[in-house]
Amino acid sequence: MLKSLPSIFLVLSFKIYSPINTLPFNEKYDYKEALSLSLLFYEAQRSGPLPPDNRIPWRGDSALHDTGQNGEDLSGGYYDASDFVKFGFTMTFSTTLLAWGLLSYKDAYKYAGQYKYGLEAVKWATDYFVKCHPSAYEFYGQVGDFSTDHRFWGRPEDLNMSRPAYKIDKDHPGSDLAGEAAAALAASSLVFRETNKTYADIILKHAEELFDFATTYRGLYNDVIPGAKKFYEVSGYGDEITWAAIWLYKATRKLKYLEQAEQYYTEFRLKERPNEFFYNKKVAGLQLLLALETKRPEYNNAILNFCNFTIYDQKRTPKGLIYIDKFGTLSHAANVAFVCLQASEIEEYGSNFVNFAREQIDYVLGSAGRSFVVGYGKNYPRKPHHSASSCPDRPLPCGWDNYHSKDPNPQILYGAVVSGPDENDYYEDSREEFLYNEVTLDYNAGFQGVVAGLIYFDNKDNSNTIEKKTSPSHDDLKLLNA
Ligand SMILES: *[C@@H]1O[C@H](CO)[C@@H](O)[C@H](O)[C@H]1NC(C)=O
Ligand SMILES: *[C@@H]1O[C@H](CO)[C@@H](O)[C@H](O)[C@H]1NC(C)=O
Ligand SMILES: *[C@@H]1O[C@H](CO)[C@@H](O)[C@H](O)[C@H]1NC(C)=O
Repeated sequence: MLKSLPSIFLVLSFKIYSPINTLPFNEKYDYKEALSLSLLFYEAQRSGPLPPDNRIPWRGDSALHDTGQNGEDLSGGYYDASDFVKFGFTMTFSTTLLAWGLLSYKDAYKYAGQYKYGLEAVKWATDYFVKCHPSAYEFYGQVGDFSTDHRFWGRPEDLNMSRPAYKIDKDHPGSDLAGEAAAALAASSLVFRETNKTYADIILKHAEELFDFATTYRGLYNDVIPGAKKFYEVSGYGDEITWAAIWLYKATRKLKYLEQAEQYYTEFRLKERPNEFFYNKKVAGLQLLLALETKRPEYNNAILNFCNFTIYDQKRTPKGLIYIDKFGTLSHAANVAFVCLQASEIEEYGSNFVNFAREQIDYVLGSAGRSFVVGYGKNYPRKPHHSASSCPDRPLPCGWDNYHSKDPNPQILYGAVVSGPDENDYYEDSREEFLYNEVTLDYNAGFQGVVAGLIYFDNKDNSNTIEKKTSPSHDDLKLLNA
């Protein structure tokens, strides 16, 4: 595709760009700013009634009447992407990752002045998940219909189509969705354990019930809530229930959950090296958690093998970005960076993993000549595929003309990580090209975790500014379970 560009651009771009491996690893990008912007992206995606301290001036209350099949209040939560469907599977996964980043790099969030916002971002989701779980074996996994929604381009505040709610239940189970919801709530309960024990207990109870639902009534949510099939892939649920079991073990310290996790790990043959880490494939994440929790060589080797493969053998773009998928290229790279950054704790050569994570995140922030985070750094995306931010200030109307407009989005969608370049580092800042410029909840989640991790690694030796990360100690486990 580069071939079709005028040669002057090629000359220029060669001058600006330089191969990533010639850049010093310590080239400074402002990770604190990136962290604060990413949190603003989540704030811009909020559905439901907004609190008085809403920081997004062009956003207001929306979808206030989202209700379940029995009239349950389902307002709140996050819009998935440019559209206004509230899609449980990626919302829960994104929440698990956000909570994980907050747990692993809490002091970095505090150091950057973002801890309060981090907690609020997670709670905006968990409050909604609690509403989605009106009884033990029922969970609402989607509000809004994809095809109806996709006919609309405009502001969430102006939505007026009907927004049906879809759920899984005993007779229509979805172990992957219930499992991920359990993981998200268990991980989040650890986040809130120190700020509000009551709230942590409430969401942990929901997590345990959802895990019971996921494991007792087996099935794939896609068979029950088919609307997402066109847009989101789905495969087995083995990784979700294993992942949920480990998160529940971390949150409760009940040994039965660890035993279940290890049993599923074998039963679902999860020891093979994965290629990726994203909403439909959590194996690398659960291998890492098992390694950190048990310190057993089997799991240590599995995750080190994954990171070695990713860093040294995975496909890359010419400028060094890990290339796993054309959809969400940058998020796939950020997600594996998030896993391997945390795996750096396991081995003495872990500094390679930190350097790798930095290299990938620096690409997102600008090392290849442009920023891929809206509102950050030089030459950032001006036309993200995002309908709300493509609208002018009210009361001007908004519609498909704004979609087709060649002008930048009138509202800056601060912090959104766009889908990213293709395998040749080629990228187009075009609203209509969602392959390059889509933004979603899950594209930002791993990215935000790595950025916080890099703040931690850059400051951990300076004990005045940041406390050393406390790696969980499990020496007391035997006593606890004796
Ligand atoms: C929704 O809004 C559109 C545009 O403002 C309008 O044309 C349409 O009639 C409305 N539909 C309903 C069901 O109110
Ligand atoms: C803690 O959480 C509970 C349950 O959501 C809530 O009622 C209470 O107000 C919270 N406490 C604080 C100090 O935020
Ligand atoms: C990963 O790579 C390192 C460094 O090359 C090597 O020492 C280690 O044995 C490898 N580990 C695994 C599990 O492949």
